[in-house]
Amino acid sequence: MVLTIAMPKGRIFEEALELLRTAGYTLPPEFAESRKLIIEVPEEKMRFILAKPMDVVTYVEHGVADLGIAGKDVMLEEERDVYELLDLKISKCHLAVAGLPHGQVHHIAPRVATKYPNIASSYFREQGEQVEIIRLNGSIELAPLIGLADRIVDIVSTGRTLKENGLVEFEKIADVTSRLIVNPVSYRMKDVQINQMVERLSVVIPDE
Ligand code: PRP
Repeated sequence: MVLTIAMPKGRIFEEALELLRTAGYTLPPEFAESRKLIIEVPEEKMRFILAKPMDVVTYVEHGVADLGIAGKDVMLEEERDVYELLDLKISKCHLAVAGLPHGQVHHIAPRVATKYPNIASSYFREQGEQVEIIRLNGSIELAPLIGLADRIVDIVSTGRTLKENGLVEFEKIADVTSRLIVNPVSYRMKDVQINQMVERLSVVIPDE
């Protein structure tokens, strides 16, 4: 049986690929450069589909992919009917609240720009702070610079994007790493193959 694995395009992709190769999977060398969205690897009985990080979970939830690699940020944002099998400990970053160092804040309900509206609302609710959430799809750091928002909730990895845009981090919300996720039905139907993959990956997961 072929295992279909949804992989996130972008920065997680390279690290996930390296981890799979370290675990002994032979993946074609042109894998990373290809523009193909479905990559068959018959020698390993694997098929990879390449999707946007937020969509990986959707493919797995609907069962068109058996497995997926998704950031904890995506898992926290929406409750989905998938199981988390492994913390792959790759693509480490964190979710944070940031803004201009001495920015003027709208005192009644500060505006928070983010592509994580659920994470942001529950975070500020827990803080007892009333905010207005403004949903964006990327380049979130632009929002406070141009006056759309007082603060942002976004991923910080190296911190370069904040720094180069004159923004500072105020609070950390959660640590984020990539997870191996599985469709519950696939897990029952292809348990042997999936558990084998979990075992192979477990031994090569980087240390803390
Ligand atoms: C992410 C995130 C930040 C940036 C952080 O954006 O939203 O903008 O990376 O990384 P850094 O701390 O290493 O600078 P991404 O590149 O995924 O693009 P996006 O603007 O589409 O969110």
